[in-house]
Amino acid sequence: MEFRELIQKRRSVRNYTESAPREVIREILIQAQQAPSWAHTQNARCYVVDSPEMREDFRKAVLPEFNQKNSENAAFIVTTFVKGLAGFSRGVQVNEPGEEWGSYDLGLHDAYLIFAAKDAGYDTLIMGARNGEKIREMLNIPENEEIMSVIAIGKAAGEGNARTHKDPDEVIRFF
Ligand SMILES: Cc1cc2nc3c(=O)[nH]c(=O)nc-3n(C[C@H](O)[C@H](O)[C@H](O)COP(=O)(O)O)c2cc1C
Repeated sequence: MEFRELIQKRRSVRNYTESAPREVIREILIQAQQAPSWAHTQNARCYVVDSPEMREDFRKAVLPEFNQKNSENAAFIVTTFVKGLAGFSRGVQVNEPGEEWGSYDLGLHDAYLIFAAKDAGYDTLIMGARNGEKIREMLNIPENEEIMSVIAIGKAAGEGNARTHKDPDEVIRFF
């Protein structure tokens, strides 16, 4: 798919018929590794929950009811970033965002991920409403990683909702 078309067609999907195969997910995550990161620290980490028995337990344990419903039949990718890398030089904070640069890097990584998924014929839903403590416990995620999103991935049952966007002149300033 042309990149422009990918951008236009990607939507958050909240209704899935099936998950994505492990090999496809792996390929998508390899594409996501191409995202830029602070000093090429490659601080993003991904934890994939795709086996049918674990998917069910995970969905019910870590997601609020509305997101459980949104992500039925999908697989899950938990994305985290290793703290103390982005925004730091030799362990010293470089400027005011500090650790927030880690979220910045992971956001870029996840953008690559959702476009790579769309390009491979799969849809996604980024979920910020999730229980981080339960995720850490279930997947044994180390304390030096900040857990951010759970991304549902699978075959869409239908189109995602169309949405409108702000007037560009409201959000863009040229000087
Ligand atoms: C950081 C982040 C957290 C989100 N959390 C949720 C969520 O918990 N549940 C949900 O249904 N959608 C969630 N979304 C999806 C947004 O609602 C969606 O991206 C937005 O409405 C725009 O729609 P679009 O993705 O189809 O363009 C999240 C998106 C982002 C980027």
